[in-house]
Amino acid sequence: MSPEPGSFYASLAETLFSLTDGVPHPLSDLSNAAALLWYSLDKLNWAGFYLLGPGGLLVLGPFQGKTACIEIPVGRGVCGTAVLKNETQLVPDVHLFPGHIACDSASESEIVIPIRKRGVPVGVLDIDSPVKNRFGEEDREGLEAFVRVLENALPDDFPARLL
Ligand code: SME
Repeated sequence: MSPEPGSFYASLAETLFSLTDGVPHPLSDLSNAAALLWYSLDKLNWAGFYLLGPGGLLVLGPFQGKTACIEIPVGRGVCGTAVLKNETQLVPDVHLFPGHIACDSASESEIVIPIRKRGVPVGVLDIDSPVKNRFGEEDREGLEAFVRVLENALPDDFPARLL
């Protein structure tokens, strides 16, 4: 029997906590988080991170899936919008999102969650699906909780020493 969605995400967050707790290597934490998502969620074609670098550019971080765009300006695409608005973007149909950036033409739906330190966005978690309407409110809540675990594991000056 498959687990309840709530317990699925609770278990995913626990696994991420055990992988990242006390690890002083943010690149390793992000890499393991991307792999964990990729092998735990179904119907995905991309899962990974963009990190906010100097000059208001989101820079490609660790991910799973096809090669992707390297830089996204804040305010552009779904990722840049999530940072500009400092809020999750849940996109049931990417073709209806003005300015969506198609790194992989297979993408049909997407969810992007800001990663924050002290309330300020420092990057995003971006997950794409080849299926329309792949992500709903359960996913939003579960993935936001997943990102909270990650935020606690990342150093206060993240991503300063990476970019
Ligand atoms: N679709 C994103 C770009 C990143 S790729 O999906 C990996 C966007 O519109 O910001």
